[in-house]
Amino acid sequence: MPDYRIGSLQELRKAKTLEYLISTDVGERHLFALYHDGQVYAYENQCPHNQMPLNWNEHQFLDHGEQYLQCVNHGALFTLTDGNCIYGPCLGEKLQSVSLQIVADDLLIKLP
Ligand code: FES
Repeated sequence: MPDYRIGSLQELRKAKTLEYLISTDVGERHLFALYHDGQVYAYENQCPHNQMPLNWNEHQFLDHGEQYLQCVNHGALFTLTDGNCIYGPCLGEKLQSVSLQIVADDLLIKLP
């Protein structure tokens, strides 16, 4: 499993959420990462409801109160730290998390 550098921790800390497009040998992957309470989380940018990207505006994944990740298509809300859907049409499902490691300022992910 190769490591991919997706970005910098410092940039993510400032932005809170950032999206990334990763080109792999088997195609493109759309991901996003979240900085919350000193921790970093990464998810596939694909809603479990209709398999659509969660966001319309670049890099925006948080709801107004910044308490949840939100899918703008039909309003589903997901917990920040594990991506569980707690409201909306995919209630009980979850976002696909991505294994992420921090080395110095680099955010590294492993993709199968
Ligand atoms: S596609 Fe996300 S809630 Fe419908």
